[in-house]
Amino acid sequence: MTASVAAARRNPYLTDRRLLVEPSILSADFTRLGEECRAAMDAGGDALHVDVMDGHFVPNLSMGPALCEAAHRAVPGAFLDVHLMCTDPGKWVEPFAKAGAGHIQFHVEAVPRPAALVERIRALGMTAGVVLNPDTPASACVDAIPLVDTVMLMSVHPGYSGQRFIEGVLRKVPELRAAMRPGQRLMIDGGVSPETAPACRAAGIDVLMSASAVFGAPDYAAAIAALRG
Ligand code: DX5
Ligand code: ZN
Repeated sequence: MTASVAAARRNPYLTDRRLLVEPSILSADFTRLGEECRAAMDAGGDALHVDVMDGHFVPNLSMGPALCEAAHRAVPGAFLDVHLMCTDPGKWVEPFAKAGAGHIQFHVEAVPRPAALVERIRALGMTAGVVLNPDTPASACVDAIPLVDTVMLMSVHPGYSGQRFIEGVLRKVPELRAAMRPGQRLMIDGGVSPETAPACRAAGIDVLMSASAVFGAPDYAAAIAALRG
């Protein structure tokens, strides 16, 4: 897998204007990772969300480039969105590009002035996104917004799947939207379920991430359809 292959693959953030749903493989059964990735895409997932935790920026470890590459080999046509919950995301841009990533997201709390980082992500043929933790104000990413393709609100404190949705983060949407260009996508991650998705959709979110509400459901297609509303 080279960066140019990632660039050639269809990027849903640039091509689709409808609401997108991204299953997060953090809640997949890792003993059957390939099968789970295929099932989530066959069930209507628009991309796969890959949660990378470094045990420092967040209090947990999750997956590295090898696992991302395995997901890519299992479903080469799936667009891979890599969420770097890392203190030093710059260290992981090239390894994840080689592992098949199409989009890299980093936290504004880790990289408040990300111009150089975004340039490196783009040079490898990927798009870039900035993420805000629940307690971080929208104003923290005013410098980053003009540089990126996506902005993502964390609606849980990152580190684990299956946590309770923090609805108050939706109050940041108007301020973020006002700073975003029309083509930029606004995402939400954490505690998104058929019960909480309607509030996200009503607030104007474009992309819903979901781990436990998809991979914990008996029928992935029904779960994704319920998230879409
Ligand atoms: C949280 C991760 C999320 C997580 C969401 O640290 O960034 O992407 O997988 O899990 P759910 O959807 O179960 O809250
Ligand atoms: Zn995530």
